[in-house]
Amino acid sequence: MHTGTTLTQFIIEEQRHIAGATGDFTALLNDLATAIKVISNAVNKGALIGTMGALDSQNIQGETQKKLDVITNEIMIRTNEWAGHLAGMASEEMDEVYAIPKQYPLGKYLLVFDPLDGSSNVDINISVGTIFSILRAPVPNRVAAMADFLQPGTQQVCAGYALYGSSTMLVLTMGHGVNGFTLDREVGEFLLTHPDMKVPEETKEFAINASNRRFWEPPVARYVEECLAGTEGPRGKDFNMRWVASMVAEVHRILTRGGVFMYPRDTKDPSKPGKLRLLYEANPMSMIVEQAGGASSTGHERILDLQPEGLHQRVPVILGSKNEVETIVSYHKAA
Ligand code: AHG
Ligand code: MN
Ligand code: MN
Repeated sequence: MHTGTTLTQFIIEEQRHIAGATGDFTALLNDLATAIKVISNAVNKGALIGTMGALDSQNIQGETQKKLDVITNEIMIRTNEWAGHLAGMASEEMDEVYAIPKQYPLGKYLLVFDPLDGSSNVDINISVGTIFSILRAPVPNRVAAMADFLQPGTQQVCAGYALYGSSTMLVLTMGHGVNGFTLDREVGEFLLTHPDMKVPEETKEFAINASNRRFWEPPVARYVEECLAGTEGPRGKDFNMRWVASMVAEVHRILTRGGVFMYPRDTKDPSKPGKLRLLYEANPMSMIVEQAGGASSTGHERILDLQPEGLHQRVPVILGSKNEVETIVSYHKAA
């Protein structure tokens, strides 16, 4: 019987082409896949295991933490800290860099993650996800400092997300295209179901939180206005709008049927240049979208070229089908 390509088989075959690969990376991805299976289980059990609702605590960004934000962060740490592949971790839910405990060996990679993306959706049973980015530690086998994590997105060795939707999927890139795997719960493995994913070039769909409309800058307002004008407007076609409030779900839709996703800079809170965080949201998602033939920009600059200045730095994000992103960028240039 043919079982299909498992995630482990896929990664091992990829790594065979890389001179000097030691198997560390393969093992790290295996641990990550385990963490994702455990998170998928916790998310799926929902109210049965008492994980719904919020805590009294806030994270460093002043957001109220959901119980599952903290549980999933813990799962990511415990599953990935022990094996000796990492020199440090950083996450949305931890103020500072997480140092690997002394009893464990250190390794050559850094892991950065958003353990539960779209967590406002957990209580209402709508898709959430996990986003991760793997970087090389500038100095291997040494406890990583904050500055070690401040690498532009172009330096990412691997980026991926897990989507806990109607099925659980793992989508990842190691810099040679994007591949999607679906969790077969009975078998307990991720199986390759979406080889070589590509963002369709033509699109009629956009995603933006329209409740922020009065705070948008003119280029974004212009773009959305033109989409809304439909067949009578300058675009000459009707557009459709979506907003899931889970970036993972939005990016997955874009990888499947195209479109554009925007969380742009707005004037709502001038101290925040956008909502999404560069290191564990914008960078990994930008690498995936670019690797699938799409584009990703702040409106002014390619996101992957940005030099990060802080672990929890926020950036404006405009990503998806290349032509649409280029159009929005051209509106920023013209403004
Ligand atoms: P997180 O749950 O990790 O804090 O991220 C939520 C993000 C992102 O996934 C989503 O696109 C956006 O916030 C939703 O923002 P609104 O609440 O403004 O819709
Ligand atoms: Mn998030
Ligand atoms: Mn989160």
